[in-house]
Amino acid sequence: MTEHRQCVRYLFLRIQSAWRRLPSDTQVHHKEEFVATLMGFRGKLLLRSYSLMGTRGDCDLLLWHVSDRLETLQALETAIFSTALGGYLEIAHSYLGLTKRSEYEFPELPDAASRTVIRPADARYLFVYPFVKRRAWYALPFVERQEAMQDHVRIGRKYPSIRINTTYSFGLDDQEFVVVFEGDDPGEFLDLVMELRGSPASAYTERDTPVFTCIQMSLYDTLDSLGGAAPEQRAAEGKDEADGFTAVGSIADLPPGGCKRVYLGADAVALFNVGGTLYAIADRCSHGRASLSEGTVDEARNTLQCPWHGGRFDLATGQPTAGPPSAPIKTFQVRVNGEHIFVR
Ligand code: FES
Repeated sequence: MTEHRQCVRYLFLRIQSAWRRLPSDTQVHHKEEFVATLMGFRGKLLLRSYSLMGTRGDCDLLLWHVSDRLETLQALETAIFSTALGGYLEIAHSYLGLTKRSEYEFPELPDAASRTVIRPADARYLFVYPFVKRRAWYALPFVERQEAMQDHVRIGRKYPSIRINTTYSFGLDDQEFVVVFEGDDPGEFLDLVMELRGSPASAYTERDTPVFTCIQMSLYDTLDSLGGAAPEQRAAEGKDEADGFTAVGSIADLPPGGCKRVYLGADAVALFNVGGTLYAIADRCSHGRASLSEGTVDEARNTLQCPWHGGRFDLATGQPTAGPPSAPIKTFQVRVNGEHIFVR
């Protein structure tokens, strides 16, 4: 029986400098439309976003997306470039792969059986590079390759907090593999790669560049890292009322069933209109770095489901109602005055 495989795409984008010269409200509109468009793919694919601002000169952001079907990846890209922001985005690098069970045996790796399903560790950093082996590697007897790979694994196990996700690209894209590591400490990853350079398998590497160091952020935070309208700028546009409420948006932009990410000072706040009742909660999940404004509202239970690991929060109290989060999130008071939504 053919094993179940997933299609995995690493799409590195750069933004044209002309976008940074647009009026700030146009930039805000572009970001909101972009997020709403990608949220339309919820349930169809797994999506993680990363910023490369400050780590790489030729691209600004990475969208890591995983689906059971290539056509879904294609539909996402069409949607991305149909947005207003998409008109200012260019593809800097693109890598496509499929998950596949390794031909080598690693009995000491407990999760080897689940390797055909991508489960992001959601570590702070992602390190990505395309990988091609020398043809001489494939001419080696299998037992020699198995030994060399076990040596690789032995070195990798000295760095247990670094997790590897390798996908296969043979015949699908220019590289043979897309090698991806997740970790919270770039220094630890550097040490691991240096040590791997001395392994027998490393002598058979043909190409393992370019290398991308990516910083994980929610989609909104990733877009904010591009620059343009800054949270502080938008907050300054708000009106303050004497009792401490600050205008954060217009009620016309938040119809029933709607959600909007706004800023109170430098804090991101997620606003929801659930059947005419407005709720405001801190945008950052208490479990990880997900933006709750990218989550899904359950109107019947008045709860919000986090987009990353499915944690649930009560919208009125901020208390977690289902794991993995254990800590509550901050809630804000909301009122509407005229056309404006105020929170404090
Ligand atoms: Fe893990 Fe929200 S980030 S449940």
